[in-house]
Amino acid sequence: MRHLIDILDLTCEEIDELLDTADSIIENPAAYATRCAGKKLATLFFEPSTRTRLSFEAAMYELGGHVIGFSDAANSSSSKGESVSDTVRVVGSYADIIAMRHFKEGAPMVAAMKSTVPIINAGDGGHNHPTQTLTDLLTIRREKGRLDNLTVGFCGDLKFGRTVHSLISALSRYEGIRFVLVSPKELQVPDYIKDLLTEKELSFIETTDLESTLPEMDILYMTRVQKERFFNEEDYLRLRDSYILTPEKMRLAKQTLSVLHPLPRVNEISVEVDDDPRACYFRQAKNGKFVRMALICKLLEV
Ligand code: NCD
Repeated sequence: MRHLIDILDLTCEEIDELLDTADSIIENPAAYATRCAGKKLATLFFEPSTRTRLSFEAAMYELGGHVIGFSDAANSSSSKGESVSDTVRVVGSYADIIAMRHFKEGAPMVAAMKSTVPIINAGDGGHNHPTQTLTDLLTIRREKGRLDNLTVGFCGDLKFGRTVHSLISALSRYEGIRFVLVSPKELQVPDYIKDLLTEKELSFIETTDLESTLPEMDILYMTRVQKERFFNEEDYLRLRDSYILTPEKMRLAKQTLSVLHPLPRVNEISVEVDDDPRACYFRQAKNGKFVRMALICKLLEV
């Protein structure tokens, strides 16, 4: 039985296959409409979510399956003190596969150790978010036609942004990726990510300056400052508007730039950028459903 806890649980070949399946679902959704007939997905969301949970649920419905679960832990037995291990053991007797989001780093991994059904990490604290990464990779491949030889800028909260950590890990396995890490000093990527890049002798720079680095980027991955992970409100208020992508700044960028954002956006991309053909974030959100359909099929072996 396979789980997806970290994006590196999948080989590059497996990622290619998943993206190929997602492309084929986009081409011909009818061919997949009954793949999961009689199967149930449980969504156990201990933290807020719109895209991730609803795209998982839509994915399972479009595969002909059913969905159970909760979107507010206050209504679940965890509010009575139940451990995640006990919760997934029980839910595994009602569902065939579980997508879990948790505010604690490592919770889905702990859950997977005791689970009798596949567990998908739908985001664990400030750590990882592998299905967002599959979404991001599908988007990059569909927009750019490749996953290698790209200059990829990450901008915003690189410290707490779990989508950033997972996407950097994933891209570190492709040839010719140059990383440009743009953040306030306080919100730089954690050391374990830098160590990974250094170990693999990958090209990366850390900077606080978006304007001067934007012209060289093929991809710009904007992120929200992760309010819920700050220890004090004051720091959040000081840092939240560090970077705002505007049409003026977009003039500095390549015509072929692709702007990604995992969403939700707060203030970091002005709405005027939405009409720029280089803004990919709403297409990206749509891709999330297709890649999750592909992943559910893979883990259920259907
Ligand atoms: C991200 C998350 O939950 O980490 N959202 C998502 O899943 N699309 C990004 C965020 O919340 O900022």
